[in-house]
Amino acid sequence: MSIILEAKDISKTYKNGSVEVKALKPCSLTFKEGEFVSIVGKSGSGKSTLLKLLGTTEIPDDGDILLNGKSILRLKDKDVSKLRRSQIGFVYQDYSLLPEFTAYENIIFPIRLDGKIPEKDKIEELMMVLGILSCKDKFPGEMSGGEQQRVAIARAIAIQPAVILADEPTGNLDCENSNEVVTLMRKAAKMYHQTIIMVTHDMQTADYADRIIRIQDGEIS
Ligand SMILES: Nc1ncnc2c1ncn2[C@@H]1O[C@H](COP(=O)(O)OP(=O)(O)O)[C@@H](O)[C@H]1O
Ligand SMILES: [Mg+2]
Repeated sequence: MSIILEAKDISKTYKNGSVEVKALKPCSLTFKEGEFVSIVGKSGSGKSTLLKLLGTTEIPDDGDILLNGKSILRLKDKDVSKLRRSQIGFVYQDYSLLPEFTAYENIIFPIRLDGKIPEKDKIEELMMVLGILSCKDKFPGEMSGGEQQRVAIARAIAIQPAVILADEPTGNLDCENSNEVVTLMRKAAKMYHQTIIMVTHDMQTADYADRIIRIQDGEIS
C-alpha cells in the first residue's frame, strides 16, 4: 500500500496573550491508502488539533503535510481550499447537516459546490451500503442520530476524497448506534479505497480501526 498522507515534524502551540498551550508536540505520521486509523486520547490531549492540522483547517507552526507526496501547506489559499474540497472529507460529532435539505440533498451538496453533477445511481448505492436509502427524502429532523451521522458519512464519501477525517463521529451516539456507524463507515470506505483517520476518546470505537495511534498531553506514543 502506498502512502497517501504524511505529516513531517508538525507541531502546534496556541497563544492567547501571554498564555501558551502546547497542543501538539513535534510529531511525524504516515497514513497508507485505504487504511482505517484511529487516534485515541483523553479530552484535551490534542486529538482535534492533530486532525485539523492534517486537514489544513489549522496550519502547523513547523513541519509539513504531504498529500500524495505533495506539500499542501505551500499551495496558495485558493488551491488549498479546492484540494481540500476534492481530496479530504470531514465528518464531525454534531453531523453538521443542513436542516432544510433532505438526506439526499445534503449528500449531493458538496458535489454541486464542486461544480460536478451527482451520479444518482452511485449515491443511492452508497446510501444502501450505509443503510440509509429509506431516509432519502427525509429531513435531518426526521432522522435518528445514527441515521444523521450515516448521512454525514455518505456526504463525505460521495465526493470521493482520498482521505476522510472524522472527529468523534460517534460522540453523540449510544453504544449500539456507535458500533453500527463505525462498522458501516469502515465498510463503505474500504469499498471506495478511502483512508479514514478517526479521532475518538472511546477505546471500543477505536478498536474498529486497522491501527491505533495514542496521544497524551500533545504527544504521540
Ligand atoms: N483555538 C484554541 N486556542 C487555544 N487553545 C486551544 C485551542 N484549541 C485547542 N486548544 C487547547 O489545546 C489543547 C488540545 O485541544 P484539542 O486538540 O481540542 O484536544 P482534544 O480534541 O483531544 O480534546 C487543549 O488544552 C485545548 O484547550
Ligand atoms: Mg476534540
